Amino acid sequence: MQVIRGQLLSFNSAPSGEHPSDMLHIEKGALVVDDLGKIVWLGDFSDLPQTHRGLPETDHGDKLILPGFIDAHLHFPQYRMIAAYGKDLLDWLNRYTFIEEQRFSEVAVAGPAAKLFLDELARNGITSCLAFSTIHPIALDALFEEAQSRNMAMASGKTLMDCHAPSGLCDKPETAYQQSTDLIKKWHEKGRLKYAVSPRFAVTSSEAQLEATGALVKENPDLLLQTHLSENHGEIEFVASRFPKAKDYTDVYDHYGLLTENSLFAHGIHLSERELSRLSEAGSAIVHCPTSNNFLGSGLFKLRETASYANGIKVGLGCDIGGGTSFSTLQTMRDTYTVSQLVGSRITAFEAFHMATLGNANLLGIGHEIGSLEVGKMADLVVLDPQATPNMAARHALSKDLHDVLFALLIMGDDRAVAETYIAGKAFKANL
Ligand code: GUN
Ligand code: ZN
Repeated sequence: MQVIRGQLLSFNSAPSGEHPSDMLHIEKGALVVDDLGKIVWLGDFSDLPQTHRGLPETDHGDKLILPGFIDAHLHFPQYRMIAAYGKDLLDWLNRYTFIEEQRFSEVAVAGPAAKLFLDELARNGITSCLAFSTIHPIALDALFEEAQSRNMAMASGKTLMDCHAPSGLCDKPETAYQQSTDLIKKWHEKGRLKYAVSPRFAVTSSEAQLEATGALVKENPDLLLQTHLSENHGEIEFVASRFPKAKDYTDVYDHYGLLTENSLFAHGIHLSERELSRLSEAGSAIVHCPTSNNFLGSGLFKLRETASYANGIKVGLGCDIGGGTSFSTLQTMRDTYTVSQLVGSRITAFEAFHMATLGNANLLGIGHEIGSLEVGKMADLVVLDPQATPNMAARHALSKDLHDVLFALLIMGDDRAVAETYIAGKAFKANL
């Protein structure tokens, strides 16, 4: 058991406006965490019950303690090919990404990479994620083994691709199905791990493989499904030429039963009204990846318009490393804000923080376990320092209210603003 002290902050619902009511904010707060990493008490430090006094204590002073960041879309094998100078999505994939990902057929590559990748997440306050791996079962094994050793809540799966990529990254529909089935048995619900069915995108899947993917989804309806959708105009045209009978890109996935309440589609920038209606109807989510969209020149995602379309569409946030330019969730929020300004519908800092915590947790189906500070949830935490650099400290002195503090933090902050990251109550950043 331990006590963690600091300024507690957590968002219980999608806040509207600059003064949300459904928020937990305790300036001199404390969390009591048990030996399994669960929050067993939280409140004002002065109200700490007698039974919890005298426990080992870490005091983060004025720093903000929030639920750890959750990243809803990024690529494990791309952690070191960030910042590759590509023309656009398909050029960047062919010239750099597909080359790099082939290296992950070797344990000697995937093992150390998993450690570096998860260290980088911890450095940035990310305690949980939905990640792409590669087609190689050993790469997924390496990632899940490392996540399990850290007691981390993570979802991933073997990437499914069998065409329009180098042979080293293509498998067959039958092996895709069989290996996925074996890996689901091996990893799904082991500790805090979850398996996600992971077809890369319609470009790199044959009809037979999309059929096998649909079978996996049907046989395992509780699994997440992750893929890419409508990111880039060249990609959309190529998909249209490969699937001439489909009404549009979304319909390719729909035809094979891949539009479910557990499906997360990365990007979704250029969707038609018909596609948005179907996504809303199906209850599927779009993951906004603004640093990647900006870097690859993919386009400006209309966050508010999309989220409120028809009966609403769930929208999450992802850094999309290595198309994205930073692991930092603060930087992902910064570009979310900047793009929202460019499309004329400004989001608030509260909305951004909610999306990166409880919002993403709900999309990953683990909102009952993490995403907010509540008794019974796991102590996956990020400790943020709004005064991490001299310029941030100077700016902080001008902040008039909590929204101002958070806004400056997301505009100016990055991994330097992450003072500590706890996974299931264990401090990770201090030991990196
Ligand atoms: N579409 C298919 N694969 C990828 C990928 O690795 N990154 C991005 N940004 N888009 C994709
Ligand atoms: Zn991606």
